[in-house]
Amino acid sequence: MRRSVLTGTGSALPDRSISNAELAERIDTSDDWIVERTGISNRHIAAEGETTSSLATLAARRALEAAGLAPKDIDLIVLATATPDQTFPATATQVQNNLGCNGGIAFDVAAVCSGFLYALGVADSMLRTGMANRALVIGSETFSRILDWEDRTTCVLFGDGAGAVVLEARDETGDAPRGILATRLHADGAHNQLLFVDGGPSTTGTVGKLRMKGREVFRHAVVNLAQVLQEVLEDAGLTIGDIDWLVPHQANARILDATAKKLNLPSEKVVMTVAQHANTSAASVPLALDVAVRDGRIREGDLVMLEAMGGGFTWGASLLRV
Ligand code: UT7
Repeated sequence: MRRSVLTGTGSALPDRSISNAELAERIDTSDDWIVERTGISNRHIAAEGETTSSLATLAARRALEAAGLAPKDIDLIVLATATPDQTFPATATQVQNNLGCNGGIAFDVAAVCSGFLYALGVADSMLRTGMANRALVIGSETFSRILDWEDRTTCVLFGDGAGAVVLEARDETGDAPRGILATRLHADGAHNQLLFVDGGPSTTGTVGKLRMKGREVFRHAVVNLAQVLQEVLEDAGLTIGDIDWLVPHQANARILDATAKKLNLPSEKVVMTVAQHANTSAASVPLALDVAVRDGRIREGDLVMLEAMGGGFTWGASLLRV
């Protein structure tokens, strides 16, 4: 059976990181409040000239190197972002040009924090149907550019960064095939106003700033994530006990703990990077995945569950054997 096999991961973070204490010098907040309510200690912030495409290109190069591939081997780039370099063209085309693999398919996907899961689902479908053979799936964001730095309820929560994976279409047989085994994606536009940006090209003609009713998002996140994880497990004919690693969207350590508890998943199996990266939206899942692959926790043959929930609302999960 033709499957999309993960053969490389990579990530990139801006050099500049900002601690909670530094934020507390500018706005009415404290290290204690942020750590206790979110688990966040630091976030990386893009410097002038550092963009969604430049971070994405660096993450992509590192993923290609890990896969032992050259840019010319790639015939599909799907890039998830809510902070594109420009309204158009797609940031994926800029990354394609930076890498020098022009001519294949390249486009962006907009599903905010679930963007990487949506991008992975789309790329997997295209690889399995033979539209492409080797894909770069990237999540990259510069949320610092759409934050209201006066709003303490949102600006402390987010950071910038990028993560990328290489997927290769391969014929996988046997009892333990590698590759993406099952994916489920959802959206519910009724909750648009709980997490959104108050601007855009066709409404205000401005970029806008992020607005969020955090408490309500939190409530929906725990329920939706536990549900979609169960759906994916059922599709794959597996149970939570079979999972080696959960790599969740890194929004809030309390959401991750609550989801793991609801599922009866030991916290040692949950990859957490939220303390150092904060919420990097579409970049957070591939960033965390890359950290756990590079530090040796996630190894070939492991069953890994990815999940995310964000603006829209959108949410989803994907199960793969790496
Ligand atoms: O990635 C997309 C998905 N996004 C999420 O998953 C985010 C989900 N939500 C959350 O992570 C949490 O709801 C937050 C971290 C955003 C907020 O935590 P909370 O425990 O739900 O706090 P809250 O919103 O109920 O606020 C509690 C208090 C409020 O004060 P009052 O009204 O009780 O006097 C806030 O004004 O904390 C206050 N507060 C702060 N205090 C210090 C809000 N932000 C801050 C802050 N520093 N930065």
